[in-house]
Amino acid sequence: MSLSTNKDLPIGVFDSGIGGLTVLRALQHALPHENFLYLGDTARLPYGTKSPQTVKDYALNANEILVATGVKALVVACNTATAVALDALQEKFQPLPVLGVIAPGAIASLEIASEGPIVVLATESTAKWHAYRDILSSLAPERTVIEWPCQLLVALAEEGWCEGPLVEEIISKLLSPLFAYLGNTKPACILLGCTHFPVLKSAMQHVVGTIPVIDPAHTLAAQVITLLSSQNLLRAGTKQETQFMATDGIERFARVAQTFLGYAISSEDVELVTVIPKITTAKKANTA
Ligand code: DGL
Repeated sequence: MSLSTNKDLPIGVFDSGIGGLTVLRALQHALPHENFLYLGDTARLPYGTKSPQTVKDYALNANEILVATGVKALVVACNTATAVALDALQEKFQPLPVLGVIAPGAIASLEIASEGPIVVLATESTAKWHAYRDILSSLAPERTVIEWPCQLLVALAEEGWCEGPLVEEIISKLLSPLFAYLGNTKPACILLGCTHFPVLKSAMQHVVGTIPVIDPAHTLAAQVITLLSSQNLLRAGTKQETQFMATDGIERFARVAQTFLGYAISSEDVELVTVIPKITTAKKANTA
């Protein structure tokens, strides 16, 4: 089946859980004629504390579901999965267009005029693997990039705890060593390098004052439009439909989704799909 005949297929959107719904929301807005198929790998969340090989295996495995169901493009709406699995996903599913969130995030941060360091808030793994530093050093080698792990914010977002004094206190506590380290240097921006974080954006903005807080979802949406139009894959339909799939906890998924999506869904709107984990038995190396 050639890609040019697939215009009516949905765009697949993948995340480790519910966070990618912030990306889906931006895509639904920017592409009102497109249909979407969302998959959250809630059975294996969080990805952000796992090893690169595990995240890669999970992402390759889970995205098989989206591809087998039928999508015309894949958006990896998870920074952690993008950081380690984007190349492997592009290779595995070629010629399907596969886009990640890290390059658009890097581009969005460079659109801010001021010159201070670019601070990227991310999961433990995204920060540790320096995915943002690497891409920004090729786009703007003169810029300083600080990748700051805030894994706890994933759990807050998944719980739907997005605003209020307690949330601001937690954010403030997580960022205080960063600001102590920065001293008098004001960052150019705070880039939300985890798709769970945009629901915390206004609490974050309260904490960081005048420093711009950037959600890269809009830059990503613009890239998706450019890509689909360059491949003649844009759909001309009028009604937009979105299907949701999760690998566990569909009631919880539906309950928390509203915060991320801006509208309510019920658990009947979410299909439970099973991922078959790769089970291997590994003996500890005999070091004696
Ligand atoms: N939303 C994911 C990201 O953008 C990570 C959350 C997690 O699974 O730890 O990195």
